Amino acid sequence: MRDFNEITATEGVLKSFDSIENKRVKVLMGSIVKHLHEVVKETEPTFEEWLKAIEFLTRTGQKCDERRQEFILFSDVLGISMLIDTINNRKNNNETESTVLGPFHAPAPDIRFGDNIAHHVKGEKCLVKGKVSDINGKVIPDAIVDVWQSGPDGLYDVQKENNVVDLRGKMKTNNNGEYFFKTVKPQFYPVPTDGPVGEILNLMGRHPFRPAHIHFMIKAEGYVDLTTHVFIDGDPYLDSDTVFAVKESLIRKLNDAIDLDDNTQCKELTFDIILEKKI
Ligand code: BEZ
Ligand code: FE
Repeated sequence: MRDFNEITATEGVLKSFDSIENKRVKVLMGSIVKHLHEVVKETEPTFEEWLKAIEFLTRTGQKCDERRQEFILFSDVLGISMLIDTINNRKNNNETESTVLGPFHAPAPDIRFGDNIAHHVKGEKCLVKGKVSDINGKVIPDAIVDVWQSGPDGLYDVQKENNVVDLRGKMKTNNNGEYFFKTVKPQFYPVPTDGPVGEILNLMGRHPFRPAHIHFMIKAEGYVDLTTHVFIDGDPYLDSDTVFAVKESLIRKLNDAIDLDDNTQCKELTFDIILEKKI
């Protein structure tokens, strides 16, 4: 290309992709360049603005390590993670909807029906139960239900220095497809704000909060793996989740209940799960 100007720029760069053999790389690179050129033409950034953007991305990379993925968090707060999740988990029937995995999944201890997963935190006791079935209501025994949540302080165990495993558990559904565990009531919490993503949320005038939820990952033979959350009805952040992960179908009420093991008052939440058959 010898004649680079505002009119020829995009076509010129796209032409340089002619020899890309990998069709998918060609499609992705072509689309990225087309859209990025559009952004530049539309907004006409100054050199200072462009450098600020480069510095932001550099700091985002520098913030990443084995425990922290600031680029994924950036993708989360722009709704990109949720868009990719939704596109890759289109549902045809009444299957339970998916939502983001998030950065806090970790190996969980095996638990049995009715076990408590809250060992090192104090909070309002909550019984969580449900049934795993297919779209026709056929129950699925032996499905693996992996759950994790933050504590009343808004932190996951992996965010603490003490290496204690808490508020997570992995169980199998019983012969009736049921699961049941005890925990503490989840609380809304902020995504990590001590990095570049926190800065940009601030710059945009956005809060960093996620509504209260419990994460679920469900696997069963012959069915598509499901990664989702259950959200608590009435949470103040349901309409402004900073990672856009709320789906109406995943919101459940916390009802008053009695823990029959010790006759104490507590809360109860029922979250039935419908899995999609593998084809
Ligand atoms: C979470 O729910 O654990 C989460 C999801 C996205 C970003 C940060 C946290
Ligand atoms: Fe979470």
